[in-house]
Amino acid sequence: MKRKEVVYTHQLGETLHRLAHGGLLLASTRADGASNVMTIGWATVGVVWGLPVMVVLVRPSRYTYQFIEESQSFAVNVPTPEMKDYVTLCGTRSGRDVDKLAEIATSVGQSVDSVVLDACPLVYECRVVHWNDVQPPNLAPNVLDRSYSHGDFHRLYYGHIVGTYAQ
Ligand SMILES: Cc1cc2nc3c(=O)[nH]c(=O)nc-3n(C[C@H](O)[C@H](O)[C@H](O)COP(=O)(O)O)c2cc1C
Repeated sequence: MKRKEVVYTHQLGETLHRLAHGGLLLASTRADGASNVMTIGWATVGVVWGLPVMVVLVRPSRYTYQFIEESQSFAVNVPTPEMKDYVTLCGTRSGRDVDKLAEIATSVGQSVDSVVLDACPLVYECRVVHWNDVQPPNLAPNVLDRSYSHGDFHRLYYGHIVGTYAQ
């Protein structure tokens, strides 16, 4: 599916609204062509090192983590409100157990090799320029207690937004 390129700030308010209300869809594709997608509720968009960057937080236990580790790229897909059930599926089932991309139309990204979801009106294609892990001693104790009672500290992937595409 051919989309038009837009500036990364295009409908950014809507992206942040969806992030906070249901979540966005984080997809990635490995060198062997296998892909996976999961729901994310935590991310930031801004400027770092003079680049437009989206930072996503992924726990090592996620199957998607392996895909980003291998490919060092990902696509953040902004779903429509009508995709609510699919977003729930992607946030509650692992790609280890179910192929979450089997019954949804996809394309290959225009700037990275990651899969993108045709039903999503806006897609951010990102190449990892930096990553770091949440450092427990540096975290506010209330956040540590609330979000990491089982460890599994997020890895933060700083994705250079190499292309933002709208339908
Ligand atoms: C609304 C919502 C937001 C979520 N946000 C994140 C997130 O930002 N980071 C994360 O690691 N997991 C997040 N999750 C959990 C993953 O989406 C979930 O564990 C998913 O099943 C992982 O799929 P995978 O194993 O195929 O990668 C979220 C789940 C939901 C429902």
